Amino acid sequence: MTVIDKVKSAFTSDSPETTTTSTQSNATPSHTEEKNVPSHPKESNAKSVPETAVLSDKAVFDQNKVTVIFVLGGPGAGKGTQCEKLVNDYKFKHLSAGDLLREERNRPGSTYGELITEYIREGKIVPQEVTIKLLENAMSSTLASPPNTTNEWLNGKGRFLIDGFPRKMDQALKFDESVVKSSFVLFFSTNENILLERLLERGKTSGRDDDNKESIVKRFRTFVETSMPVVDYYRKLGKVVEIDSSPPIDEVYEKVKIEIDQRLNSSSTQTSNTTQSTSTTNASNDAAPILAPAI
Ligand code: C5P
Ligand code: MG
Repeated sequence: MTVIDKVKSAFTSDSPETTTTSTQSNATPSHTEEKNVPSHPKESNAKSVPETAVLSDKAVFDQNKVTVIFVLGGPGAGKGTQCEKLVNDYKFKHLSAGDLLREERNRPGSTYGELITEYIREGKIVPQEVTIKLLENAMSSTLASPPNTTNEWLNGKGRFLIDGFPRKMDQALKFDESVVKSSFVLFFSTNENILLERLLERGKTSGRDDDNKESIVKRFRTFVETSMPVVDYYRKLGKVVEIDSSPPIDEVYEKVKIEIDQRLNSSSTQTSNTTQSTSTTNASNDAAPILAPAI
């Protein structure tokens, strides 16, 4: 049984209302076709993301001062949970691309509200200009008023965990070029069964309009087809720290801390050499492969 079959059968045991409320049809709306520049503006004067979100052609932040760690993994892999713990212990600022998009969507008068809603429901990747601009804005305002007064945030310095980003190759390349070069990628891997189980559990209370059958299937597919190539790209550059996120939260976190300590220490003594791919993944139980392309 593929993961898609499992998602479907998990939901067919629910009431019909739960399965159909958020997605009216499987047809992809025409404007959710992938485009480089969002072209779906509504009349609005609000400016969290400008109507034409133009990205800089050189890095906005100094990589010697601003550290960025990308946090990737399938939907439900535990990215947000682990980031929260890291914030406490290492004074990171945690920015979730998905949260920023949802916030922007909910902002009254947002130019991109409708577009974001549709992309999220379809499990597709929002055009990079929007997401990168939101991240850049959030980083700027964090640096302007740092979350704490520790050494890590003095004199224009800062450290960010950017969760759920980059989800597509163009985002990866553009962020490194126009915002700041990322240090490395923390990649949480686990198997499909666990992802599905967690999403179904979370869906009971999350209120998210993409925690439903149709959207979960699409999000899994997007992850395999569009986001895994990003992980592979960074892996080839030796910038991926892979951690099996199947075990309980605290157990995973112990491994995360070891890796982070190692990386942060080595980057403070030498900034350029973030090489050597690390894999601490242990295939957990005999479950399906990590997001097998079968889906
Ligand atoms: O990370 P999270 O699961 O909160 O993301 C929810 C949705 O937001 C994704 O399925 C996708 O539609 C959108 N997203 C995106 N680009 C990102 C991160 C999230 O388009 N980098
Ligand atoms: Mg999240």
